[in-house]
Amino acid sequence: MNDILLKTEALTFAYPEHEEPALRGVSLELKRGEFVVLCGPSGCGKTTLLRQFKSDLAPHGTRSGEIFFDGAPVAELDRREQSSRIGFVQQSPENQIVTDKVWHELAFGLESLGCDTPTIRRRVAEMASFFGIQTWFYKNVTELSGGQKQLLNLASIMVMQPELLILDEPTSQLDPIAAGEFLATIGKINRELGTTILLTEHRLEEAFPLATRVVVMDGGEVLTAGTPQAAAGPQRINIPRSGYLRLTF
Ligand SMILES: Nc1ncnc2c1ncn2[C@@H]1O[C@H](COP(=O)(O)OP(=O)(O)OP(=O)(O)O)[C@@H](O)[C@H]1O
Ligand SMILES: [Mg+2]
Repeated sequence: MNDILLKTEALTFAYPEHEEPALRGVSLELKRGEFVVLCGPSGCGKTTLLRQFKSDLAPHGTRSGEIFFDGAPVAELDRREQSSRIGFVQQSPENQIVTDKVWHELAFGLESLGCDTPTIRRRVAEMASFFGIQTWFYKNVTELSGGQKQLLNLASIMVMQPELLILDEPTSQLDPIAAGEFLATIGKINRELGTTILLTEHRLEEAFPLATRVVVMDGGEVLTAGTPQAAAGPQRINIPRSGYLRLTF
């Protein structure tokens, strides 16, 4: 087991028919157990970067540089390993939920990995309890609120016990209360299950207290990385309305 869970070396990527790369020489390391918040202005390349880490989400284009997961090139992990070891939560829960019942959604990932029934039952029960969703276990997915759908989506990924959980603006379609609950759950996953987290989020005031490290991107490059504590208190983190972020480390 490698202490460095995810590593990119000089990762550069350009979308087809775009001369300007969307990622320029990104070199990044995530240690096991870290909670990293990735931030930067709209269009700086956050989503483009996160999608490189799962083959079935990676955009088409021209890529150079390396991506390692647990010490091996990520492309060498087969689909099954990628889907169980790397979880990915996107903005819209609607697009990610694939079944019609809560319990079935929780079981679906393990079913498709071919797990045996006792294992599926145990893991689903454990996660339903961890997420406090036993009371809506037998509901139809259509009966759930947006916040519940995104929590279900998260829980159905967590039953696969991923080592790395990537989340791309997971609260952008939730109301403030549901968003706060969702982020608190991510914090609990990191603390209690030890899952490594890589999150982009515009609710930085709520995300920073959870983070062990903040990575700032601009124009497809990583500008800086450091602990949120090193910013010496929230008064030194200036987030103007444009969403542009300035950090003093
Ligand atoms: N499918 C695509 N084809 C061509 N260019 C794209 C595509 N998706 C994104 N881009 C461009 O790549 C750059 C990075 O976009 P990306 O979506 O990664 O930014 P982001 O940091 O996630 O922004 P936001 O905060 O708005 O989500 C932008 O210039 C964007 O216009
Ligand atoms: Mg994005």
